[in-house]
Parts: sequence; C-alpha cells; structure tokens
Amino acid sequence: MATPIDKVTTLRVMKKKMRGEKIVCLTAYDYPFARILDEAGVDIILVGDSVANVVYGMKTTIGIGMEEMVYHTRAVASGVKRALVVSDMPFLSYQVSLEQAIENAGRLLKAGAEAVKLEGAGPVLETVRRLVGCGIPVMGHLGLTPQSVHKLGGYRLQARRPEEQEKLLTDAQALAAAGCFAIILEKVPAEAASRVTKAVQIPVIGIGAGPECDGQILVLQDMLGMFEDEPYKFVKRYAELNRMTRQAVQEYVAEVRQGKFPGPEHSFYTDENR
Ligand code: KIV
Repeated sequence: MATPIDKVTTLRVMKKKMRGEKIVCLTAYDYPFARILDEAGVDIILVGDSVANVVYGMKTTIGIGMEEMVYHTRAVASGVKRALVVSDMPFLSYQVSLEQAIENAGRLLKAGAEAVKLEGAGPVLETVRRLVGCGIPVMGHLGLTPQSVHKLGGYRLQARRPEEQEKLLTDAQALAAAGCFAIILEKVPAEAASRVTKAVQIPVIGIGAGPECDGQILVLQDMLGMFEDEPYKFVKRYAELNRMTRQAVQEYVAEVRQGKFPGPEHSFYTDENR
C-alpha cells in the first residue's frame, strides 16, 4: 500500500511547531471513527486509555490492560492512512520494569501504532530514553495524569501554585531532553501551559490547557456529545450524538412494531419484475 504524500510523522508534527501550525488531535478506539477522523484531516489519532471510560464504562483508566489496547490499536490503525497513530501505554504496563515497558510498547507498534504515550516524568524518564533508543517514538503526558487519579485526589485542576508550575516546566523540559517528540498537557491553567509551550522545543498538545498550546486534543465521545452528562468545562460539543442516536433508534423501534420497516424497497422478492 502506498504511503500518502502528506502522511503525518513525528518529524512532521515537530516541524508544525516550528512553523506555528496548530496540531489537531482526537482520540479514537475503532475502525469507523478512525476512518472518519483521518479523512477529516486530524493530524494525530490517539488510541487513548480513556477507552476505559467511554467504551467500557469504567470510572477510571486504571482497569484497562494491554490486551484491550492492542485490540483497539489494531482496529484504529486499519482505518488510518494519513494521521499519526499514537497508543496509550496502560497503567503498570511501563512502570514495573524497563524490559516490560519495551515489550509492551513493541506490542502496540506491532498492532499498528506509530508512537506510544506514557504519563508522568521522574522515574519514567529512563523508560522514555530506552524506548526512544529502541526506535519507538514517545509522547509524554503531564498535568492531570488520569492513571494517578487516586494519588491526585480526583480529576482536579493541576499546577495551580507557583511551585507546581515550576515543577511542570522542569518535568516538560526533562521529557523533551529524554527524547519525547511531543507532550500532552492536561487540565492546567492556561498561563502555565503557555509558559511550558514557549519553553520547550517539542509540541505541547493541550486538553483543558488553554488556547496557547501548539495543538489541541479532546476525547472523541465528549466532543460528539455521546453522553448526556454535563461536559467538563474544557469540552466543546460539536454534535449531539446521544440525542441523534436515541431518536434514530426510537424511530426504528416504532417502525418495526408498526410493520412499517422493512418496506418493499428493503425486501427481496422471487418475482424479479416487482
Ligand atoms: O486517554 C486519553 O484519551 C488521553 C487524552 C485525554 C489526552 O490521554
């Protein structure tokens, strides 16, 4: 299969920052949505461990494992021609040992990912260096790191205090120095995100991190309005899929019950002339 001429690579993502072009990212977990996102021009498709929340209905991302991430990565990669496919390394798939981290990242690449994402800095830096050394591109994730939700005490705004903003900055610089090609910054004050974005040479992709990041990412189901719950402040709904899907299904239920569906146009007859 030929590679599209404008295929997004980690190198191209980094060049976009240099040119001041915004980087557009969304999550996807299956083939049909991956295809739509790719055809619509999204630059990076993240097979996020948020699959735990929006596909499996779990309360946190902690319960999702390598098997599910490999499975969803394979489905997404099948639908993508142009976008860069990044897969999340799930909780405890990269913290236990360097060997395990390399093996698990390799499984995601073999399933079709072109890069992996992992959360945090500090002890994770050595892992980033080793993965990059193995030829596996790595995206960092700072600010609100959902795999640490219990340590953080909930899905709260991070880096409020000056000393926390200082640490955010040094962590971002350390991830860049370790070889990350980009960093996700989640739920931090816009001013702190702006400072990090200006301070590091690699792209900073924000989610709930204000307008001055090099790019933006949202969870697909949130921006499509798949759930009726009140969305987070940082989510903008671009569709109302919950309402539309419910209406469509209710119409189908009524038509089947009333004998209106299937009509002759959806049926086969032995009489060819009919
Ligand atoms: O898992 C995910 O969807 C993410 C995004 C929120 C960035 O990590």
